[in-house]
Amino acid sequence: MNHPTPTGVDRRAFFKTLSAAGLVLGAAPGRLAAAVAGRRKRYAIVGLGSRYRMYHDAIEKTYPEHAELVGLCDKNPGRLALALQRSAENGAPVPRGYVHTDFDRMIAETKPDVVIVTTMDATHDDYLVRAMELGCDTVTEKPMTTTPAKAQRILDTRARTGKLVRVLFNYRYSPPRTQVKDILMSGEIGEVLSVDFQWLLNTSHGADYFRRWHGRKENSGGLMIHKATHHFDLVNWWLGAVPVSVSATGKREFYTPAMARRFGLSSHHDRCHTCPEKEKCGFFMSLADNPSLKTLYLDQEHHDGYFRDQCVFNPRIDIEDTMNVIVGYNNHVTLSYSLNAFNAWEGYQIAFNGTLGRLEHRIVEQVYVNGADSDASQGAIAEDGVTTTVIPLRGAPRRLEAWTGAGSHGGGDKLMLDDLFLPVPPADKYQRAADERAGAVSMLIGAAANQCFATGQPVDVTKLVTGLGTPEYAPMPGRTGPLPMPARARTRRG
Ligand SMILES: NC(=O)c1ccc[n+]([C@@H]2O[C@H](COP(=O)([O-])OP(=O)(O)OC[C@H]3O[C@@H](n4cnc5c(N)ncnc54)[C@H](O)[C@@H]3O)[C@@H](O)[C@H]2O)c1
Repeated sequence: MNHPTPTGVDRRAFFKTLSAAGLVLGAAPGRLAAAVAGRRKRYAIVGLGSRYRMYHDAIEKTYPEHAELVGLCDKNPGRLALALQRSAENGAPVPRGYVHTDFDRMIAETKPDVVIVTTMDATHDDYLVRAMELGCDTVTEKPMTTTPAKAQRILDTRARTGKLVRVLFNYRYSPPRTQVKDILMSGEIGEVLSVDFQWLLNTSHGADYFRRWHGRKENSGGLMIHKATHHFDLVNWWLGAVPVSVSATGKREFYTPAMARRFGLSSHHDRCHTCPEKEKCGFFMSLADNPSLKTLYLDQEHHDGYFRDQCVFNPRIDIEDTMNVIVGYNNHVTLSYSLNAFNAWEGYQIAFNGTLGRLEHRIVEQVYVNGADSDASQGAIAEDGVTTTVIPLRGAPRRLEAWTGAGSHGGGDKLMLDDLFLPVPPADKYQRAADERAGAVSMLIGAAANQCFATGQPVDVTKLVTGLGTPEYAPMPGRTGPLPMPARARTRRG
């Protein structure tokens, strides 16, 4: 496999960075022995950027009785050093296990039970496959991977090794989204025949996808995979169904050099940090002025040359900002979905059209970009941002009081972490834990959409991989039983 040897960084430079941070690498056989004798599950994490921190803190601060962090791995030695520092700040002994840029060696020396993969999307498959081959169960951030071929590698390795793959779909755990699942399971709107779904990204958080590694399909699979895997997984899980066909169109018309000129810039530039037109660009972001982004990215970019603030109008970008998708499901439901990345507000609205009524659900994450909530945490729900309404075919609308939760991603992250790290997680009638089958079916819709963008032809999703099996979903209302006759409609006069 392609080991994450740091680009342009030798081991000496790495050790220098660590010692500059006051941290020393070393084997801790005593601790290893104790961990082997104890009951705590041993975790290693690969990919130590922004997202990974939640798992690091969860292991060391929230679930230390059940979990132990034994290995950390990243191709950027600066972020590796920051991760060690984090253990110290968490009050965990330093070094906490081993830290290597050499993934195979880390596994051999730290013998984790589970590897958590939080690297760039297109590299997930390498680590999932290798970890399973080396005898570990795996947990991965969404998307499970970025292409059907990579998904096939994961499915094949999972089948061959018997090791587990868990895909972290935190949106499923967000209370208002679980509430939608609850209503659909109850049968109140009957069987769903079609779904209308619009997801909106704004020009702040949404624009960020065009600044980072996400702006290249080879890294992220584009927004159809990187972002929409969340949305397609939600629909798959809400419906308890699997996709069979996809048609789609996609284009990029907003984040382009031509748009930069229409906004009065002379041209696009490489990055914000050195931009000669930063004063007049409404899309400028300052890494230097944000302590967290500065430490994590700006101060570490000399190691790997990765800029976190690339110009959103740069022609290097090859992902779409405007996407429309039609999905056909194995239970005959049709989904009409759109994703736009330059909207005024951020969030979504979805409607389930059922045989007994309609369920409308809307979540606002950011009301408007320069408003009071513009610094809200990632994926947080705006105050009073949830609207869920059931409208029977012939009855008055019933607006539901939204189920609530606290913390990141609308409270979903905390529930997901309990489900992940507690030795006996609470029983879950919604079956929110997802494995490689759910990970695959969600990203395959995006992969099929990407194919449609290129060819203009519909795609048979069932032919994209083999040996997939069917994800396990909570039981949903049947589609063939008797239905109560709706009350007679009042006749309009005149
Ligand atoms: N569920 C969610 O809501 C959510 C939110 C944010 C990110 N994510 C996912 O988490 C993952 C990480 O995203 P992020 O925002 O932390 O990105 P990031 O760029 O902040 O961090 C990625 C890290 O991976 C490292 N890396 C990249 N390629 C590597 C390789 N080949 N080997 C070893 N290390 C490598 C980078 O150096 C960096 O430290 C992505 O898959 C992303 O889709 C999920």
